[in-house]
Amino acid sequence: MNILILGGGGREHALAWAVLQNPKCDRLIVAPGNAGIAQIAECAALDILDGGAVAGFCEEEAIDFVIIGPEAPLAAGVADRLREAGIAVFGPSQAAARLEASKSFTKAICDAAGAPTAAYRHFSDAQAARAHVRAQGAPIVVKADGLAAGKGVIVAETEDQALAAIDEMFGGSFGAAGAEVVIEAFMTGEEASFFVLCDGETALPIGTAQDHKRVGEGDTGPNTGGMGAYSPAPVMTQAVTERALDEIVRPVLSEMVRRGTPYSGVLFVGLMIEGGAPRLVEFNVRFGDPECQALMMRLGGQALDLMQATAEGRLGEMTVNWAEDHAICVVMAATGYPGDYQKGGVIGGIEDCPEDSFHQVFHAGTARRDGRFVANGGRVLGVTARGSSLREAADRAYGMVDRIDWPDGFCRRDIGWRAL
Ligand code: GLY
Repeated sequence: MNILILGGGGREHALAWAVLQNPKCDRLIVAPGNAGIAQIAECAALDILDGGAVAGFCEEEAIDFVIIGPEAPLAAGVADRLREAGIAVFGPSQAAARLEASKSFTKAICDAAGAPTAAYRHFSDAQAARAHVRAQGAPIVVKADGLAAGKGVIVAETEDQALAAIDEMFGGSFGAAGAEVVIEAFMTGEEASFFVLCDGETALPIGTAQDHKRVGEGDTGPNTGGMGAYSPAPVMTQAVTERALDEIVRPVLSEMVRRGTPYSGVLFVGLMIEGGAPRLVEFNVRFGDPECQALMMRLGGQALDLMQATAEGRLGEMTVNWAEDHAICVVMAATGYPGDYQKGGVIGGIEDCPEDSFHQVFHAGTARRDGRFVANGGRVLGVTARGSSLREAADRAYGMVDRIDWPDGFCRRDIGWRAL
């Protein structure tokens, strides 16, 4: 089978690695890919937001199956264009991708499905939004309605922070994504990410994880795209998992079917859990990054069979083969991230790290210069390991971190602290 993966971050490196573990994969192309992915697969320059261009490329290269990594091509309707061309694709339609692309759409679906989530109001006018914040007080959550590259959610601890977020959003800092906002009640509890493959009405859980969004140790400092993740998340007990499926995932899938826009792909269910009760924080219509790196280390080659079955509507016949294992991904980022950072610092030592089904260094933002890896982004490496316990996985991951020689880089040393 000839496979194309769209995307070029750590998530796509992990997807590529897992796909290559499966003997069904004859040829793998990743567009655009990155310097790490180029070591294991072909990389192609392609405008991944242009469905026509992607479909044309698939025809030229005889691609049998496309896996769409990031949300932007999904929200742009690339999966629809590929399906129209008769190409099998893993990822939801543009209409179903609204579960990530519009916060107010998701809230309306939750209302219709009776899925528990925070109380909310939707505003297209700054004055009314400000008045609502003044009436509600803080803490309160302000969300840009549209896609804002992970930066559109402000958990405001004070009223002033919430008002500033509203001004920023309506002031255009988030572009069209901030033209409307959703303001939500603040939820307390422990967050977890739950990943479910869906093909219309069938839901197959493929793992849980916890992300570390803050840049600093002890979960302090500004928010990032994620500084590390581990899987499984202990808070996602069997009972919580069943409740999340029964109270959130299945009713939402049914509502999407009822509206004529069934959901097909991976549903990333962001949950807040308190007293054993899960409530929805947000949906994403793709794998999380860096959660995907930890999940792929645990799933290995079966990930391809599962994604293919999702695309073909055969999930009902699939099971996941679980090992009693744990995985962790430690993100190494460029000093200054998530603010301004320098690109171009030379990274040594990656070659000295073991590469096997327990150890992988996934690249998120690297380039090749004069035969050496250099940093080419904010989040640069996802140092990922698996073990029979989280402690073993963490020791393996930090053992690799310590071999990496990158003076301009940093990582959090406490990934997994809640579970460890
Ligand atoms: N790690 C969070 C995300 O991928 O959105």
